[in-house]
Amino acid sequence: MPIVDVHTHIYPPTYVELLRSRNTVPYVRTFPEAPDSSRLIILPGEDDPATPSTSRGRPIGPEYYDIAQKIAFMDQHKIDTSVISLANPWLDFLPSEEAGEAAKNINDDVEGLCAKYPGRLYAFGTLPLSAPAEVVVKEIERLSTLKHFRGVIMGTSGLGNGLDDPALDPIYAALQKFEQLIFLHPHYGLPASVYGPRANEYGHVLPLALGFPLETTIAVSRMLLSGVWDRFKKLNVLLAHSGGTLPFLAGRLESCIKHDGHLKQHGKTENRRDVWDILKTNIYLDAVIYSEVGLKAALNASGADRLLFGTDHPFFPPLEEDAEDWHSVMANYSAISATFSGDEKAAKDVLGGNAVRILKLDL
Ligand code: URA
Ligand code: ZN
Repeated sequence: MPIVDVHTHIYPPTYVELLRSRNTVPYVRTFPEAPDSSRLIILPGEDDPATPSTSRGRPIGPEYYDIAQKIAFMDQHKIDTSVISLANPWLDFLPSEEAGEAAKNINDDVEGLCAKYPGRLYAFGTLPLSAPAEVVVKEIERLSTLKHFRGVIMGTSGLGNGLDDPALDPIYAALQKFEQLIFLHPHYGLPASVYGPRANEYGHVLPLALGFPLETTIAVSRMLLSGVWDRFKKLNVLLAHSGGTLPFLAGRLESCIKHDGHLKQHGKTENRRDVWDILKTNIYLDAVIYSEVGLKAALNASGADRLLFGTDHPFFPPLEEDAEDWHSVMANYSAISATFSGDEKAAKDVLGGNAVRILKLDL
């Protein structure tokens, strides 16, 4: 059974060029203090002038854009196949009239990368979400004709108003029709104020460890509350980071819905699909949670046939110069073997079998 990584990113060369041409977030640049190394500044707040330029964002090297390095990382970690996706913030920041063409170029680039390594690479496409919905729908249609695409990666902002925006309905309809799943991935975290005035003493820990998963949890809860899955019963979504905190909080979410007078008054507590149904029918969870505790919550929420191994490469590299295997990857491998000890079949399914089946990979 192959090992398949469904959560692994790339910034293809055309995208890096785009970031190099910019000087507001997101951008890539070198600073006079360290002219030999470029930095990737993508997250809200990473640009804070109070942070020394040499620790803003993160260093960016070829592991972010050179596909040969992705393959070398896969070989080193015994990963047979990767389903690559553009990393955040995708094209969220582009002016509407530029987004359609940029998405095409990036998707064509990624299709070319996949074609170079038969059997080893598939992809989730990028959507031009700042463009009108018709342009987005066209790109979804086009992606369904390209050999290596198996879905699309999306952030939580949708067309600008979140994933509970009814204006997304034609896009959800197209994704459902062409059987392309949404890989839902965070980027914006939570408002900076929640991290407090000392946040920059803590590096990226609060936004990445907590802001990202809560952002995903809120986005998917809003989809559920607005009835997206009542309207699109076959719309499938793969949630990053084992669903943020959804598996842990699903019971609380359901209870709050059942006890909400406003929802009851508007007839919204009856004839609805509940979160447990959605978790077991429409949602897949990656296994990028680094511990047995989190993975068991994901398993209990969605089932062993809906969990999929991932790494988040090239993010979270080891900080030691001489490290070989990546701690982040080994933590995800260990969580799977601890969670499924005694059930080798389930472990193999999570490591790759589920991805082959769900994404129809020709391996
Ligand atoms: N940091 C990011 O900005 N994106 C990821 O996918 C992981 C870490
Ligand atoms: Zn990621």
